[in-house]
Amino acid sequence: MTAGPCTLVILGVAGDLTRRLLMPALYHLAVDGLLPDAFRIVGYARTEVTEDELRARLREGIVAQVSSALDESRLDWLVSRVTYVQGAFEDEAGFDRLAAHLATLDQDAADGGHHLYYLATAPEFFEGVCRQLGDRGLLDESGGAWRRVIVEKPFGRDLASARALNAALASVMDESQVYRIDHYLGKETVQNILVFRFGNGIFEPIWNRRYVDHVQITVAESVGVETRGGYYDETGALRDMVPNHLFQLLTLVGMEPPSSFQPAALHDEQAKLLQAVMPIEPSACGVNTVRAQYAAGRLDGESVPGYLDEARVDAGSGTETYAALTLAVDNWRWAGVPFYLRTGKRLAAKRTEVVIQFRRAPLALFRQSDVAAPSANQLVLSIQPEESISLEFAAKVPGPEVTTAPVRMRFCYEEHFKIGGRTGYETLLYDAMTGDRSLFKRADVIEAGWALVDPMLQAWEANACSLVTYPAGTDGPAEADALLGRDGRRWRPV
Ligand code: BG6
Repeated sequence: MTAGPCTLVILGVAGDLTRRLLMPALYHLAVDGLLPDAFRIVGYARTEVTEDELRARLREGIVAQVSSALDESRLDWLVSRVTYVQGAFEDEAGFDRLAAHLATLDQDAADGGHHLYYLATAPEFFEGVCRQLGDRGLLDESGGAWRRVIVEKPFGRDLASARALNAALASVMDESQVYRIDHYLGKETVQNILVFRFGNGIFEPIWNRRYVDHVQITVAESVGVETRGGYYDETGALRDMVPNHLFQLLTLVGMEPPSSFQPAALHDEQAKLLQAVMPIEPSACGVNTVRAQYAAGRLDGESVPGYLDEARVDAGSGTETYAALTLAVDNWRWAGVPFYLRTGKRLAAKRTEVVIQFRRAPLALFRQSDVAAPSANQLVLSIQPEESISLEFAAKVPGPEVTTAPVRMRFCYEEHFKIGGRTGYETLLYDAMTGDRSLFKRADVIEAGWALVDPMLQAWEANACSLVTYPAGTDGPAEADALLGRDGRRWRPV
């Protein structure tokens, strides 16, 4: 269904996020007929460009990103919707111009005065920009028009700063107006975890400690820090990926069935799951966490530099580019089932997946035969690059002798639904326009995530757990293998 009339105000319209992700996503929505005729985009940024130049740039960005045949008329329509206000994020006069521009546009009442503000800015501007918008009445919904703000990650850099940001947002708008984005929730296969678990009768009865041996969550990347050395060196793998993307996967895999798909019901269950996770005390960080940094290595046959030789990275940096942890979820469903999480840059491949490993079958049948114990069943929810779900089980190898081999049943999203090439932002932008907050994060869920990460950050910053290295292009450090190895388990290869 087409979204209702509204104006999307992109603060940071000249940046990479807008060009690479937001505009291509809006293009896909336009092609699918989901944008209203009265849709408008107002861009705001420091860059000195004319409206025509900005439109041309955004057009180029879409052409470069979209893999399917271009629909030129929808593309022309979309870029024709763009107008521009130039100004810095700390500039009072700039925001006065923005407010005046919006007031002029609103005069024809085409968008009903509904505004969606997208903070595609560096995080240090989030608070200031919201205050500027609030001061000019742009977040005021008392006239009947809705006003919503999408906040990009990183949402704080620890619990204290996340709380402060939540409080600052709460001082200028209601929680119902805040849309905290985690682009992992825009991925179809991530959303499908809920449908897979709760839309089918056969999985939920075995989704617990009676049948599950352990869970692995991997977000491996083959890229290094790319052009973001400055940001990354201040941030590290733990902050950059764990409280947001990995915990998002953790909550969807681990949470109890919500009473409905209403946002509050979903968010309540996500918060409850995070509250059930046992914090890793600083004294246990040496045992239950691994922090590592990539050294020079080889990837796809090419030599690649180590982290310390990357641009804008401190030559003596102790920032981790890899993190692995074992978490215990202390509730009735998961007590005794370890959740192993790992993420890193410059690993052998890009791979995001969740592995549910089931308990082994008893050996009874094969005890007196030559058959090696069949491997444990694994259910693999593969999120990227391949979007698929597969189940590994033992089968008899054809022939007179009884031998078994692991085989795989596999469902592939793209093959089945013939759809691909989406950015994940399509769903999130559409949901924000239609007021569905299910896939956005509530303040307390963000804070619950940071509450778990904070003790690890503190222990790591105090060097309670030593920083180890791994060669670029590998599956990560040996210490991460040992994390599972001492429990008699192994990571699925990257
Ligand atoms: C971002 C991180 O949030 O997610 C990046 O800041 C990371 O460092 C990216 O590369 C990974 O996203 P995806 O969708 O490629 O898995």
